[in-house]
Amino acid sequence: MSAWKKHEVFEKNSMILLVGILVMVAIGGLVEIVPLFYLKSTIEKVTGMRPYTPLELAGRNIYIREGCYLCHSQMIRPMRDELERYGHYSLAAESMYDHPFQWGSKRTGPDLARVGGKYSDEWHRDHLVDPRSVVPESIMPGYPFLLEAKVETRGIADHLKANVIVGVPYTDAMVESAAADLAAQANPDSDGVDGFLERYPNAQVRDFDGNPKAVTEMDALVAYLQMLGTLVDFSIYDNKADLR
Ligand code: HEC
Repeated sequence: MSAWKKHEVFEKNSMILLVGILVMVAIGGLVEIVPLFYLKSTIEKVTGMRPYTPLELAGRNIYIREGCYLCHSQMIRPMRDELERYGHYSLAAESMYDHPFQWGSKRTGPDLARVGGKYSDEWHRDHLVDPRSVVPESIMPGYPFLLEAKVETRGIADHLKANVIVGVPYTDAMVESAAADLAAQANPDSDGVDGFLERYPNAQVRDFDGNPKAVTEMDALVAYLQMLGTLVDFSIYDNKADLR
């Protein structure tokens, strides 16, 4: 039987063809995927990444709930125009605690991966309440209710626990004090701040929404935005060298 004839078996029997295709795709897939587990560069080791604080996590949930990802990406691509506008391209390690990731696929507004520290809290507050009060040509919707809505703390410990299941290294102490930590981050004068900072070194502690009486959804969302892109120290990386 010539090689041509042998091939007839595949061409005349759809089930055998299907099995043949599956085998070929599996081989191709393995060849592409297996090396990723051995290459050092797949997930660069970086210093500074830590799990989100409970307040940031609550803010991230509001970000997802309100569909901010429908207009905003969080992934800076390694191209010159993006590097010049947004800063160092996003590293895989920067999303390693994101479940689900917020890379996004649409940019009606700017990328937010490194928006932390770019504006003041007041700017974010004004912008989220009424975007056109600070950016007259903006088409972003306003979210004024965030100032009134208190952050729901009842489920936050369970939320940390759920993240532990998918690999985020929250400790038992972090889970236990989740609700207290959430309040402490927005109340710089409270007793809980020291413990909070021990668990989340270098986290930003302040009253994010300008209303010290309540921990609102505005506190949570602004805390989240102000943290984005600030965890990894990029002064040790050389942007321009990466481009060449
Ligand atoms: C309908 C699309 C749309 C949605 C939904 C949307 N935005 Fe925007 N956003 C924009 C546009 C357009 C801009 C640019 C103009 C401006 O600054 O308002 C922007 C700008 C921003 C900026 C300033 C970025 C910078 O670097 O200047 C932030 C921060 C931001 N949005 C946060 C959010 C958050 C948080 C949400 C969800 C609560 C959200 N956006 C929802 C369209 C959107």
